[in-house]
Amino acid sequence: MKQIKGIVFDLYGTLYDVHSVAELCSQHAPGRGLEISLLWRQKQLEYTWLRSLMGQYISFEQGTGDALVYVSNHLKLDLSARTRAELCDEYLKLKPYPEVPAALETLQALGLPLAILSNGSAHSIHSVVGNSGLEHRFAHLISVDAVRIFKPHTTVYELAEKHLGLHRSEIMFVSSNAWDASGAHHFGFQVSWINRSGNTFEELGARPDHVLSGLDELPDIVRPASTEQ
Ligand code: LAC
Repeated sequence: MKQIKGIVFDLYGTLYDVHSVAELCSQHAPGRGLEISLLWRQKQLEYTWLRSLMGQYISFEQGTGDALVYVSNHLKLDLSARTRAELCDEYLKLKPYPEVPAALETLQALGLPLAILSNGSAHSIHSVVGNSGLEHRFAHLISVDAVRIFKPHTTVYELAEKHLGLHRSEIMFVSSNAWDASGAHHFGFQVSWINRSGNTFEELGARPDHVLSGLDELPDIVRPASTEQ
């Protein structure tokens, strides 16, 4: 395996907890916050993949809004446009997982460039990262906006090579989304799958190089040989 020279993270569900919206959801539908947020996330992802297959590109915000309309209809919640706008806004204020801020600090101190490569729009990525005060940890915030197609299309993963100026084999790609980890591995990155909650890996013809239970386990894997303790 080649020495790692840069780290690229997925954003939603990897660094930031998409289910931090559940609390606000439950204010509008008591007791149903997590149910809403789980279906919302699933539909949001499906809409990105389906739009890509249709040869269409919509912004991540629009896909997120469309998915919430589906959820409202399917669960018969009758959420008003105003409530849906409020809930979508919450997606810009997601919370990082508890171990993430300290782990990013450690990784940055190793001298490796850190980047985010996300299906989110540039606006969404900058809002989420900025609202959590972690912008200074990243050398690159890379959105699919530039190529107008969503992960796991290989064109998106190529963006990381271009931004970091590194070959795919020198990049550690980190995702909690098994479909994304699979796409990244097919592309040729070294891959760490963060499995915080005992999920099952996808059967898409690829396996991650590393399976971690949290981001705090990553520094030991990517530490350059010269800084090993
Ligand atoms: C991301 C989502 C899809 O690309 O997890 O950040």
